[in-house]
Amino acid sequence: MGRAFKIVILGGGVAAGYAALEFVKHGISYGELCIISEEAVAPYERPALSKGCLLPEDAATLPAFHTCVGIGVERQTPKWYKEHGIELALGTHIKAVDVKLKTLLSAAGETITYKTLIIATGARVLRLEEFGVSGADAKNICYLRDWNDCKKLVEVTEQCQGGMAVVIGGGYIGMECAAALVTNRMKVTMVFPEQHCMARLFTSEIAAFYEDYYKKRGVKFIKGTVMTAFESDAEKKVRAVILKDKKRIEADMVVVGVGIRPNVSLFEGQLALEKGGIKVNGKMQTSNPSVYAVGDVVAFPVKLYGDVRRLEHVDHARKSAAQAVNAIISPEEVQDYDYLPFFYSRAFTSSWQFYGDNVGKCVLFGSLKDQKFGAFWIDRGHVVGAFLEGGNKDEYASLATLARLQPPVKDIEMLAKQGLAFPFFH
Ligand code: FDA
Ligand code: NAD
Repeated sequence: MGRAFKIVILGGGVAAGYAALEFVKHGISYGELCIISEEAVAPYERPALSKGCLLPEDAATLPAFHTCVGIGVERQTPKWYKEHGIELALGTHIKAVDVKLKTLLSAAGETITYKTLIIATGARVLRLEEFGVSGADAKNICYLRDWNDCKKLVEVTEQCQGGMAVVIGGGYIGMECAAALVTNRMKVTMVFPEQHCMARLFTSEIAAFYEDYYKKRGVKFIKGTVMTAFESDAEKKVRAVILKDKKRIEADMVVVGVGIRPNVSLFEGQLALEKGGIKVNGKMQTSNPSVYAVGDVVAFPVKLYGDVRRLEHVDHARKSAAQAVNAIISPEEVQDYDYLPFFYSRAFTSSWQFYGDNVGKCVLFGSLKDQKFGAFWIDRGHVVGAFLEGGNKDEYASLATLARLQPPVKDIEMLAKQGLAFPFFH
């Protein structure tokens, strides 16, 4: 028993939703395309889970943020997929893939065959059990990757009104969830091993601004350490977090954001892997010509820097999806993927964007006091990366152009003084 499709997208997240839109733009026939997702809901804009969905009032909820509302186009509800003849196999976990036979096997035992496969399996959260933390299966420990996680986080937060929350991890999830918990009137303590937050992107000076900004809103920081155990009660609810130095922090709930791992296991030994992801070329094509891969799961050539990277951000998920679809439909016409890395975040009233590469010397500009500042990264005499807090649409667009063009800089001190007045911008 099984079904056959011309194209199958495995995974029903951001990249899958944007790929479907791109197929529809080009025109696909009824019954040609199938999206398989273990989630019970159609593809949605995952960034909403740590932002709009966690608001104490008028929180965003599905179906309001199905793709592709993130770029201001159609909201693709299950009805939309039906109208376009796209099969949406929700609640369907794929447990095995054979890229030679071109088959997928579902947990329910169905075999699905394809002519072309697009892998859009994204990533899974790293769990504290994997770090050897005991008691990590308690009820009030929350992770945040999908809609189910989000609903649990909202429910647990509601049950602990005004209580104490410990946030493990100082990356994107940690920072965005800590802000959301404060907005929900929780008392928040963040714990992470690095010397400052957002260590993958921020310098210590940029991080100092955000830590101070969070502290003013009541967040406590415990840095340079990790937690080793949870103390739970008879109901299997965490009551305290125990740190490496045996320090005990009381907790009514815990949110964990300690990174992710791309979902590649179905393809190990079948496709070439690199940097923990599925290796693709500039057409998003894997080592098997009938298989493409997009989004968080891919390690792709970054033309601008001449190296291979894996990026875990929504803009790349959207653009790589469109690139794969175009490469499948018009292989001769499509140029190699030429992606400019772009990351952003919002928390409380802060909002920043970053374009390019954070390598080389970093110089700050602007006014930290007025919450209008930025930074340039200069590598081998050229600006290669740009960060801006509190910018407007035009300023952010200029930042992107700057990071792409990489203009030379003779005088770094002058650049720091000029900031957005750097002649490039005018
Ligand atoms: P994505 O994770 O979206 O989708 C993968 C899908 O595959 C899931 O539906 C999963 O269930 C399914 N799947 C996996 N294995 C399967 C199997 N074996 N069988 C069936 N289905 C399977 N980025 C950014 O730039 N700005 C931001 O503000 C945010 N904010 C943000 C908040 C939160 C809470 C998260 C978790 C992430 C972000 N991100 C972000 C990151 C961004 O959401 C991420 O880069 C994209 O969702 C990646 O899209 P993909 O489609 O690659 O994976
Ligand atoms: P991350 O990689 O941003 O941060 C992981 C953090 O885990 C590190 O900063 C570190 O502080 C911490 N850590 C590692 N080991 C630890 C340990 N043993 N104990 C305590 N802390 C430890 O990952 P994340 O914050 O979990 O985010 C998950 C994914 O979601 C990422 O792909 C991220 O890009 C994505 N995301 C992106 C955004 C955005 O772009 N605005 C927002 C939310 C989530």
